[in-house]
Amino acid sequence: MPGLLSSPMCLTVIWFLSLSPCPTRAQIWTDEVSGVQYGRLEANVTLACGKSQIRTPVVWHLNNSSALPWHKVTTDGGLVLLHVDQSAQGNYSCYDDRGLLLRSVKLRLGHPPGLLSISCQVPNHTHVRCSWVDSVKTFLPAKYNASFRGNGQEWRPCILDIAGKHCDVDHPAFWQTIHTLRVTETNALGSETTYVRLKLHELLKPQPPESVLVKALEGYPKRLMVSWDFPSSWPPYDAFPLVFQIRYRPQGSMYWSEIYSQESPMVIFDALAGHLHQVQVRARDEVDSESQWSEWTRLLLVRPWEAVYTTTEPAEEPDDGFPGYSFPSNTKPETSTAKSQNPVHEDEGNLGLVILLVLFSVVILTTVLSLIFVVWMRQRRRDHATKQELTSMVKMKSMPI
Ligand SMILES: *[C@@H]1O[C@H](CO)[C@@H](O)[C@H](O)[C@H]1NC(C)=O
Ligand SMILES: *[C@@H]1O[C@H](CO)[C@@H](O)[C@H](O)[C@H]1NC(C)=O
Ligand SMILES: *[C@@H]1O[C@H](CO)[C@@H](O)[C@H](O)[C@H]1NC(C)=O
Ligand SMILES: *[C@@H]1O[C@H](CO)[C@@H](O)[C@H](O)[C@H]1NC(C)=O
Ligand SMILES: *[C@@H]1O[C@H](CO)[C@@H](O)[C@H](O)[C@H]1NC(C)=O
Repeated sequence: MPGLLSSPMCLTVIWFLSLSPCPTRAQIWTDEVSGVQYGRLEANVTLACGKSQIRTPVVWHLNNSSALPWHKVTTDGGLVLLHVDQSAQGNYSCYDDRGLLLRSVKLRLGHPPGLLSISCQVPNHTHVRCSWVDSVKTFLPAKYNASFRGNGQEWRPCILDIAGKHCDVDHPAFWQTIHTLRVTETNALGSETTYVRLKLHELLKPQPPESVLVKALEGYPKRLMVSWDFPSSWPPYDAFPLVFQIRYRPQGSMYWSEIYSQESPMVIFDALAGHLHQVQVRARDEVDSESQWSEWTRLLLVRPWEAVYTTTEPAEEPDDGFPGYSFPSNTKPETSTAKSQNPVHEDEGNLGLVILLVLFSVVILTTVLSLIFVVWMRQRRRDHATKQELTSMVKMKSMPI
């Protein structure tokens, strides 16, 4: 009766019948075809072929191939995989002796969670971020749940990121000396909770300072000016001041010079004139002496200001430490760097030299004038003496003898 079969009423009845929970064979495999079964690596894993009333013998396939890992089949058609390793994972299917698919199941293997290795960062007084890695690789997807509390306080959630690899706490009770974080990892094979005790005031470690600049100061061959900004994750103008450490050395030197400062900018007064310098800055909470220094900022390179003026001396060797900068003295031998004998008053060197030159000229002039005067005086005296001699001779001749 094709007319009856195609009527909407009849189709509805058939649809209802197919939904009914009567345990037909078709029912079994449609229920479980998308199933995933999890097993422990290095253990024996049992895969059932279906519910009861399975007619043996059955045939198992892995990934549509009859090649199976080390196994045995139980009397009710179950497959026991012995001491499984990763290669036993895949899509297992169980067929009856007429080739009808009874069950298909995907096997995934791994380990239950182990303890987590947790580390926390405290970039300012209002924020804690904790991240973790598995101490055992589980090979399985996991979910995490994290909470946090100060000594004797209520647990409050540590907010997880989407990937579940770290969590954040805002406004922790910083005055409490000890806090506890607990993180629970759960996967298909089990769950494990890890507890860590935290001392926030010891973990406090600012981000490195930002926008660090080092400049030469024109006219000062031994000075460098260093400036920086607070790390953006540190509130700049409030009750938590930072102290900054600046370290610097001529490039190639093993030894750093260090200075501390609360304020930017800062002037270095004892740079080595004419040398390229490396400069770095880091920050720490000024009050909390148990807190940690930030990482150093990246190395900045700078050369102090250098005077270049004309002399008649031969050129000096150009500095090897500054490739790409060709020294003018190579082509113009009359140019050379200023090298003061007295480094402390180097800046006043120009004026001193002028005064010295003027004084020197005055002395020379005076000496020459005096010499001329002395010679002239002598000449005059000699002339005078000759005149007197002549007069006396004339007198003597005219005298009557
Ligand atoms: C796995 O099964 C084999 C054989 O039945 C048995 O000898 C072995 O002890 C079992 N291993 C575990 C871990 O249960
Ligand atoms: C079966 O297929 C899965 C992927 O679905 C693969 O990881 C596994 O290695 C395969 N196993 C065998 C024995 O081919
Ligand atoms: C596993 O194999 C069965 C039978 O070949 C197939 O119907 C099913 O889609 C497969 N499942 C997966 C996840 O590959
Ligand atoms: C996470 O842990 C809290 C406290 O132990 C609990 O109330 C909550 O149900 C847990 N959530 C999940 C998803 O496990
Ligand atoms: C503290 O650090 C966190 C993380 O870097 C940041 O999101 C937050 O704004 C900072 N708090 C303040 C007050 O700057």
